[in-house]
Order: sequence, then C-alpha cells, then structure tokens
Amino acid sequence: MSDADRRDGSLFIVLEGGDGAGKTTQVALLSAWFDALGLAHVSTREPGGTPVGEAIRSIVLAGPEMDMPAESELMLILAARAAFIRDVVRPALEDGHLVLADRFSLSTMAYQGYGRGLDLDQVREAISIATGGLSPDLYLVLDLPAAEGEERQKHDGAEPDRIEAAGRSFRDAVREAYLELAASEPGVEVVSARGTPEDVHSRIKARLAARFPGTFPDRV
Ligand SMILES: Nc1ncnc2c1ncn2[C@@H]1O[C@H](COP(=O)(O)OP(=O)(O)OP(=O)(O)O)[C@@H](O)[C@H]1O
Ligand SMILES: [Mg+2]
Repeated sequence: MSDADRRDGSLFIVLEGGDGAGKTTQVALLSAWFDALGLAHVSTREPGGTPVGEAIRSIVLAGPEMDMPAESELMLILAARAAFIRDVVRPALEDGHLVLADRFSLSTMAYQGYGRGLDLDQVREAISIATGGLSPDLYLVLDLPAAEGEERQKHDGAEPDRIEAAGRSFRDAVREAYLELAASEPGVEVVSARGTPEDVHSRIKARLAARFPGTFPDRV
C-alpha cells in the first residue's frame, strides 16, 4: 500500500511480546480507550482476523500432536497474514481508521526466525510476500521474563498450545529475540509488562501520546 492510499488518521499499531506477557489484556484496554476517545478502530489478532485466518490459527495453535516442520509453521502463518492484510488491514487504513493488532510480523521474526532457527533473511523475504511490504506504524513489545509470562498463563488453566509447549529455553530465546529486534528494526519500542494491567496500560498510553501527538491526548 502506498502512503497515498492511506487516509489521514489511519494508524497501524501492533502489540507484541512473549506468551502470557499481557498482549490480549492490553489490546482490550486500548480498544476501550480508543472508544472513549471516539477513534474508529479495528482490533484483531494474528493469526486470525479472517475466516481463513481463524481456520489456519486452529492448525497452528493446535496441541503438540499437530507436529510440523518449522517451514510449515511459517508458511501457514504467512498464508493467514496475506488474507489479514487484504481483508482487514488495508480496508481499515484506506477508511482512515486505526488498526490495533495482537501480534504481527515481529512475532514471525521472533518465533519462526530466532525461536525455530529459520534463516532470518529468508523469513524477512517471505514476510514481504505476505504483506506486500506493508508494515505497522509502531510495534510495542511487552517485555516480561519468560518465567513470569508462564506464571501468568498458569492462572488461566488452559492447556499449552503447540508453540507454548516448546519449553522454557524457547521462551527465553523469544524474549531475547524481541529485545534484539527492538534494537535493530525501525518502529519497534519496548514497554515493561511488569505491574498491574492498569500500570502497563498507562505506560502504553504515554508511549502512544508521545509518538502520535496528533492522534492521542498528551494528558493520559
Ligand atoms: N499486568 C498483569 N499482571 C498480572 N496478570 C496479568 C497482567 N496482564 C495480564 N494478566 C493475566 O495473565 C494472563 C495472560 O495475559 P494475556 O492473555 O493478556 O497475555 P497474552 O500476551 O495475550 O498471552 P498469549 O501469548 O497466551 O496470547 C491472563 O490470565 C491475564 O489475565
Ligand atoms: Mg493473547
């Protein structure tokens, strides 16, 4: 999508971070804040957000019995992303809306690249086929030690999905990957995920206000 296709006010913001860091919780709080500000937005999750994406999600996030090569995992996630871009992200941005996503391409770099050990340049290239080169205006990485994310998830009582079941060293690698990506990729900021959900929400609001002063109020 060229910038000319995007209407004023459109913004594409993504929350990232390891398993259990609080992404879904923070997307819900942000969505309520955008509503309170009267900002039209779409909030969605990756992989998913479209019928084909949700179907692919159920394969990718099935239990450990759905064993597959890392390359299959990558291709499935990107197959969902291409539909997500065409059917969700581009139409919303063209309408001048905000798009708030729970995971996007930074997850692919962190999990399938660093975590699964696929070649990073190849992963980057494959991502650009799926996205047509569209990238978010901002990635916010919720940073939390892997053990604390695991602890938070334990309270959910849900069975670990195939990726979560990969173990502690994989989770540690993913956390380090996010920190490295934040240092090397443009448009990626790290936010501490420690404290209460409200603490984290306040931090995120302050970041958004600093980064996009025309869209968000600075007294948050
Ligand atoms: N700041 C917080 N402090 C303590 N618990 C939290 C906090 N934020 C979220 N939680 C709880 O931790 C669990 C994981 O949070 P959440 O589902 O938002 O994380 P997530 O990053 O979306 O996880 P996943 O990677 O599994 O999608 C939930 O039970 C949630 O209620
Ligand atoms: Mg989540």
